[in-house]
Amino acid sequence: METGIDLADLAFWRRPPHERERDFARLRALDRPVFFAERRVPLLRSGAGFHALVRHADVVEASRNAKVFSSEPAVTNPEPPGWVKHVFGDSMVNLDDPRHARLRRIVSRAFSPKMLARLDSGIQKAAERIVDDVVEQGPRDFVAQVAARLPINVICDMMGVPDGIRARVHAHVDVSTAYTGVRMSLPRTVAMAGRNMAALFALQRLVMRLGRERAREPADDLVSALVNANVDGERLTPKELGSFFTLLLVAGNETARNTMAHGLKLLTDNPGERERLAGDFEAHIGGAIEETVRYVSPIMQFRRTVTEPYEMRGVRFAPGDKVVLFYGSANRDEEVFPDAGRFDITRRPNPHVGFGGPGPHFCLGANLARQEIKIMYRELFTRLPGIRSVGEPELLLSNFDNSVRAQGFAF
Ligand code: HEM
Repeated sequence: METGIDLADLAFWRRPPHERERDFARLRALDRPVFFAERRVPLLRSGAGFHALVRHADVVEASRNAKVFSSEPAVTNPEPPGWVKHVFGDSMVNLDDPRHARLRRIVSRAFSPKMLARLDSGIQKAAERIVDDVVEQGPRDFVAQVAARLPINVICDMMGVPDGIRARVHAHVDVSTAYTGVRMSLPRTVAMAGRNMAALFALQRLVMRLGRERAREPADDLVSALVNANVDGERLTPKELGSFFTLLLVAGNETARNTMAHGLKLLTDNPGERERLAGDFEAHIGGAIEETVRYVSPIMQFRRTVTEPYEMRGVRFAPGDKVVLFYGSANRDEEVFPDAGRFDITRRPNPHVGFGGPGPHFCLGANLARQEIKIMYRELFTRLPGIRSVGEPELLLSNFDNSVRAQGFAF
């Protein structure tokens, strides 16, 4: 197209983040959704392409209107390979109401303020252990030693995964989150699909077994609450419980971990903001987390599929059209965020869409993520006040996961 920008091309996602930001700013200035044709990769299925929503208002409009902008058959783009659909097909993130609403009603119990409060002491203990280990081992990689360790433990705590099988869960998750949304060569795709599928199915089996046990003999934990009927007679089947667990691991693991890793780098690169946070941690940590999620957009995009004719800024969408919501771009929209390229932990208001736009699919784990990051950062900045990132992060090549594979650090 005339801008020379091609969001459907892997080469775009290979470029440094600041160059991509510049191109998104140019797309926003066009003031209309732009269509990108999808590249054909030999032997892999590809679709017609997608309309890119890059303005904040447009992302919000599509997120709110789930009747027109459907999450079925899937929210990743390009079309996920069959094995991804197979494993996540029944996940609420890929469903519309009423099936989505039913699942969300049931699993929301897991995220009630009461449930989250019960997790506090476990998160605190895990954070203390992580810092103890870092002090003992010395700083090498912030991702492996700190950021990657907390979220997965929290999810296992939530689901009551017994200690004995956690090591296996950790190993499976490392493999299963390697899907990046980026088209790869066929042999790599096949190899990854084989490993991921096996890992995810193994995880689902683990949890389904747990679910059957708790259905027989309920305990005072979340799995018991999910597989046994509530007052309205609603409950998850063991299969739904398995899909929910893998969704949590994928949705709640990388995202929280990447926010922590990017956050350390942002606070290191912005010493004024760092000082402000250190000066009054409790007053500023909430703003610092929101601003990090805005600035980083740990999930850079999700997709919707249009169900009926619709017009946005003069562009006509037809049923079956794909529309991609670029959260990263919406979060830098100057119309909503003055001086959007500045990292400002006191930014108010901060209506970012990093946890998704307002609507039925808004991140169910947003409060849990906030809680984890707050406790981890409090522990780190209190006990290691000199902690800082060193060097540049090693980023994953992906079009939707703003993932840090490794980040040097010191204290
Ligand atoms: C900073 C961390 C996080 C970010 C940036 C993030 C981002 C998102 C986004 C953008 C969506 C919207 C999907 C859509 O509209 O299609 C979403 C949904 C979701 N998130 Fe998060 N997330 C984070 C942490 C978590 C955590 C910790 C959990 C759970 C342990 C979690 C569980 C979910 C679930 C279950 C959904 C699907 C909700 C639905 O379809 O109704 N997320 N998240």
